[in-house]
Amino acid sequence: MGNTTDTDVTPNRADRSPGPSYVEIIADDLVPAPDFYTQGPVPDIGTEPVAASRYYDPAFLAKELDHVFSRTWQWACREEDIPEVGDYMVFDLGGYSWIIVRSAASTFKALGNACPHRGRQIVETDGHHQRFRCPYHGIQWNLDGTVKHNPFGWDMPQWGARGGDLPEAKVALWGGFVFINMDHNAPPLESVLHPIPEHFTRYDFEGKYKAAHVIKKIRANWKATCEAFMESHHVVGTHPQALPMTGDLNSQYDILSDYVGRQFTAQGVQSPNIERALSKEEILGVTAFNQPNAQQESTAAVPEGLSARAFSAASARRMLEQSTGRDYSQAGDAEMIDSLLYHVFPNLAFWAGMAQNIVYRFRPNGMDPDTALMDILILRPYPKDGPRPKPVPIRYLDFDEPVMMAAAEIGAPLAEVYDQDVENLPWVQKGLRTLPAGVAFSKYMEMRLRRHHQMLDQFIAEGEARPSTM
Ligand code: FES
Ligand SMILES: [Fe+2]
Repeated sequence: MGNTTDTDVTPNRADRSPGPSYVEIIADDLVPAPDFYTQGPVPDIGTEPVAASRYYDPAFLAKELDHVFSRTWQWACREEDIPEVGDYMVFDLGGYSWIIVRSAASTFKALGNACPHRGRQIVETDGHHQRFRCPYHGIQWNLDGTVKHNPFGWDMPQWGARGGDLPEAKVALWGGFVFINMDHNAPPLESVLHPIPEHFTRYDFEGKYKAAHVIKKIRANWKATCEAFMESHHVVGTHPQALPMTGDLNSQYDILSDYVGRQFTAQGVQSPNIERALSKEEILGVTAFNQPNAQQESTAAVPEGLSARAFSAASARRMLEQSTGRDYSQAGDAEMIDSLLYHVFPNLAFWAGMAQNIVYRFRPNGMDPDTALMDILILRPYPKDGPRPKPVPIRYLDFDEPVMMAAAEIGAPLAEVYDQDVENLPWVQKGLRTLPAGVAFSKYMEMRLRRHHQMLDQFIAEGEARPSTM
């Protein structure tokens, strides 16, 4: 990017980058965004360094699993992934493994995937059963986890008549996702997600289908991976091709609750990192990466008096209406084209918007602090009169397999962006071991990363203060 600079920038207010704020950008939109897009209060949560060992110390990961992942809500699968009674998926998280099963027409159960006899995992892969059976000594369970048959029940007096049932996690549903929580005393899902259920009513997650699902192995800690998707100012370093149409430094960051934060980044406007004023054609000449088919009309001449952003939003709205037969006349320009990403502590993220909704999940890869699993899932609307398409199967990508291998499902421009993100991560993980001063988060743009660590500390401190149940 010959026109790009990351030096000649002068902050024009205390907590913001140069150029207009996100709210100022969207104030000119032809179809306005909902009221809840405005910036909330910006808390001052400090500037202290964060110990780098948190990203590679196995003891710290063990604490996260014991006190954070085992006590927070996790989406385990989509309802549409297990449409028939008896369909199940295996949800692994660190060392934990759960069976998510549709045990009745509208009932989902999360059953411990470990035989209460001597611990063998009961199922190894996703599938369909009318009953579960341990392959080791043959105990059988009903779909609700109660014992159906125990071939040596006579020799297990310690279990009594009803012993040997599988443990259950809490289950709750939102947006077509099945969430589980291993802590039966956890706050309700609805309160943890607040205000997402209210804000996302407009985005109809239940009514969309799973058009892409990648699970990518990454050579970096789960937090380093998650944090690569919690700010937009890495565009200048990592995704320079997007600068002509991304208001990276104009982004808005909000801490909405202990659990929920968000980042809003305008598209269809040039980055303040580019000094020269770009023409509308130059802005629109960049393929939008975060919406399907967005580029098809984008190189057409822009009518006089219409900004590149307004043209881009109108074009996206027109194409979405054509492809679905649905009415998006009330969808704000921001909701048509911007990057609108809500995070839920500790490891989930949901994109707002109309055309497609990307969803992330970041997990430790087993008990290894140096590697992670990243889920990239995409929900899309389908034609109003058409049948609901079947959800795509999961595509598993190993460490050295690029996300571009999933270009058919997620689109090549977006796959390229992910491969650029993934490229950084092993080098982050390596560099963290030579960082005695700790990680330095920026004050505004990275306040949510700092908040993330503060919440981890809070959960770990509370967990360690509890009497041990082991
Ligand atoms: S370990 Fe499952 S029946 Fe023995
Ligand atoms: Fe990125």
